[in-house]
Amino acid sequence: MQYTTSTLALALALFGGSALATPIQVEERASTSCTFSGSTGAAAVAKSKTSCSAIVLSSLVVPAGTTLDLTGLKQGTTVTFQGTTTFGYKEWAGPLVSVSGTDISVTGASGAILDGGGAKYWDGQGSNGGKTKPKFFYAHNMIGKSSINSLNIKNTPVQVYSVNGADGLTINGGTIDNSAGDAGGGHNTDCFDVGSITGLTISGITCKNQDDCLAINSGTDITFTGGTCSGGHGLSIGSVGGRSDNTVSGVTIENSSISNSQNGVRIKTVSGATGSVKGVTYKNIKLSGITKYGVVIEQDYENGSPTGTPTSGVPITGLTLNGITGSVTSSATEVQILCAACSGWTWSGVSVTGGKKSSSCKGVPSGASC
Ligand SMILES: *[C@@H]1O[C@H](CO)[C@@H](O)[C@H](O)[C@H]1NC(C)=O
Repeated sequence: MQYTTSTLALALALFGGSALATPIQVEERASTSCTFSGSTGAAAVAKSKTSCSAIVLSSLVVPAGTTLDLTGLKQGTTVTFQGTTTFGYKEWAGPLVSVSGTDISVTGASGAILDGGGAKYWDGQGSNGGKTKPKFFYAHNMIGKSSINSLNIKNTPVQVYSVNGADGLTINGGTIDNSAGDAGGGHNTDCFDVGSITGLTISGITCKNQDDCLAINSGTDITFTGGTCSGGHGLSIGSVGGRSDNTVSGVTIENSSISNSQNGVRIKTVSGATGSVKGVTYKNIKLSGITKYGVVIEQDYENGSPTGTPTSGVPITGLTLNGITGSVTSSATEVQILCAACSGWTWSGVSVTGGKKSSSCKGVPSGASC
């Protein structure tokens, strides 16, 4: 670990500047930059993190079974990843990285990448079985004006970001590339799993994976914009229901593309559960190469095997679809709606072509067509 200080005053205090009347106060105000690197860096940063206001993580080699622990950072701390960050192999639950604090800014420097070493874990079973795979990045309680900027991530064992408890977090730019898992057994590699949010903006990200590009389980005041998603399951609300927090409201998903994925626009609520989905807008979404459903809204969800019979415990109200265009493959269904409690929908410019019309839509509210 290497400390540098950004103020001359602190340097004077450290090197015996006896003319300073109150060196302690000066030291408290100084901003301290700390650099951690290599295989000892993760342990060192966990120990010293609260005495640094600028943390630089340079080519870290995080030991197996260890979380790169950036929780409880001092307010306003900046964290910069440089070089390639790697993680030792171990079957465990993770997470491999965890960050929390107020007004925290995490940035990937030019050329930096976090490599989850996923190929060693991928067995086609994701989080449903096989090897225990560590989750990747917990952004739990990154509060205030926190941000994650230009962070490039590849080959995570299973889910990438778990975002929880945010009240104004922005995630800007960066590529998540799990495309190596397409041929190599990557599964459940959701890019963003989002819950219990009161403010979150995700903009300009690229996600190549094998599960949801975005999955919102609960929260309000959430914007996802300028995303490029491929290989996965689409831009999803849900599944909603069966957790401690089962309300989704005030969500805007726009200006994004979804290609070569199972679904495009998807909302799924859990069969028999309670909760609500209200005020969700999908706008200006481009679809291509969608293999199951261009648009799918279903109130019958069960992991792996939807029941086919929608239930009314999680109503979907105030849903706007505006400018959902593009194509699905010939064996895919263009639009599927399975509703027991859906109302107040506004659809315009929904044009999904190339596939089949559904013959099993239920409970389609006025405003929508199936
Ligand atoms: C989406 O794109 C439109 C047109 O370029 C722009 O006006 C709008 O601000 C964008 N939305 C977001 C949330 O950035």
